[in-house]
Amino acid sequence: MNGPVISVIGTGHLGATHAACLAELGFQVHAFDTDEAKIEDLSRGVAPFFEPGLAPLLRAHLATGRLQFSTDLRDVVRKCDVHFICVGTPQASGSLAADTSAVTEAVRSIARFAQRPGLIVGKSTVPVGTAECLAAALDQASRSGRALDLAWNPEFLREGHAVADTLAPDRFVFGVRTESAEVRLRRIYERAINAGTPTIVTDLTSAQLVKMAANSFLATKISFINAVSEMCDAVGADVLDVAVALGLDARIGTGALRPGLGFGGGCIPKDTRAFAHRAAEAGVVDMAALLRRVDAINMRCRMRIVELASQLTDGLAERTVTLLGASFKAGSDDIRDSPALALANAILDEGGQVRIFDPVASANIPFVQPFLHCSDTLEAAVADSDLLIVCTEWGDFADIDPFELSRHVRHPRVIDARHILDADQWRDAGWLYRAPGRPTADREIRTKRTAPSFPLTVTGLS
Ligand code: UDX
Repeated sequence: MNGPVISVIGTGHLGATHAACLAELGFQVHAFDTDEAKIEDLSRGVAPFFEPGLAPLLRAHLATGRLQFSTDLRDVVRKCDVHFICVGTPQASGSLAADTSAVTEAVRSIARFAQRPGLIVGKSTVPVGTAECLAAALDQASRSGRALDLAWNPEFLREGHAVADTLAPDRFVFGVRTESAEVRLRRIYERAINAGTPTIVTDLTSAQLVKMAANSFLATKISFINAVSEMCDAVGADVLDVAVALGLDARIGTGALRPGLGFGGGCIPKDTRAFAHRAAEAGVVDMAALLRRVDAINMRCRMRIVELASQLTDGLAERTVTLLGASFKAGSDDIRDSPALALANAILDEGGQVRIFDPVASANIPFVQPFLHCSDTLEAAVADSDLLIVCTEWGDFADIDPFELSRHVRHPRVIDARHILDADQWRDAGWLYRAPGRPTADREIRTKRTAPSFPLTVTGLS
């Protein structure tokens, strides 16, 4: 294909997926990372993390020769016309702010190594104002000859759906300074744009803000439904019914309204904090206060489960608690800021013992929390357990036979913190079943439930 040769700087979840998808779109792609082990895996067509559909795409385009991975940044940059920045912007240590040093370093290196005019496209999530500083520095450097333009094109991919979200996103946001940058981006994403994907072309500042605002809004919705869940506990209502009824209002929508353990992962928590921090810097105190509250409610979700666990086991000291799920959500092996690991640490602090079972994430735990005990099988994880807590909404857990499982535990008690189990079925099998925001014995106080899990099915009247 005649088109720009593209570099992708950073091969984490975002970068590796973006590189493979650009190759799928027909471009010649050179992806760079400093992590040699990761580049070695990717060069062999192995995804360094769990992401359905990514490995086949990698293998396909290593074979076509359109996708190459390297640890030599100078070589990568020299070959390319368009450079996508996909490096991480983690929470800075000792602050709510985002650490944007990897983005700055990437832009600086491109400016140093580029041998032809080109376009740098930021995809990393950055506090608003970052791109403007980078653009000013690039303009300064461009006076010496190599003109590099800068655009911002935030990503909105969800882990577990990264390939589909990249190839067929909900929308494109192009923050540009020049018409030629817009033309180049439209050319790169031509296929999805021609298929009707809405494309918002704006300035750098608004493009950066969209991403922070989107993740903060999702966080706010999740914390709102979790605060409603606490309200349900206080007054005896059922949060699942409330959430479904709320979501059916088209103005509200069903997304990000699943109550439970709250949000975790490598994006939403740190982006919400970074937005609060940036809002405070900008003097927008209401936004800063709102998002700090959203974060606090999210943390409180975790503590509510620990308190309930302590109540059910009559104190957690010397109790064995099995956590079903370690990843921050189903469909991912990512344990960054995972609510499950926060629960594990809180239970250990109370003197309890913790066993963890996760279908894909267990292998990652020893790298960050070597003292946590992971079991290879569900049966081993629940043996002599005093309490199970469902921490991740893996479909496998919904399929567990509660009668069979009750033979392995010391006490048949379960907290369904993600609302995926069939409460009646577990109670019928002799389990003490609890779920945040739901009545403690719903069969006794309710005459009829059609479907106990979220989202409830809606049937027509005819
Ligand atoms: C998120 C954003 O969705 C994505 O647009 C952005 O680009 C990156 O961050 P991701 O971190 O993959 O994607 O996860 P998401 O599916 O949004 O879930 C985030 C967290 O919120 C998970 O811990 C999930 O369990 C939790 N969640 C999500 C809820 O508790 N309730 C919900 O209704 C939805």
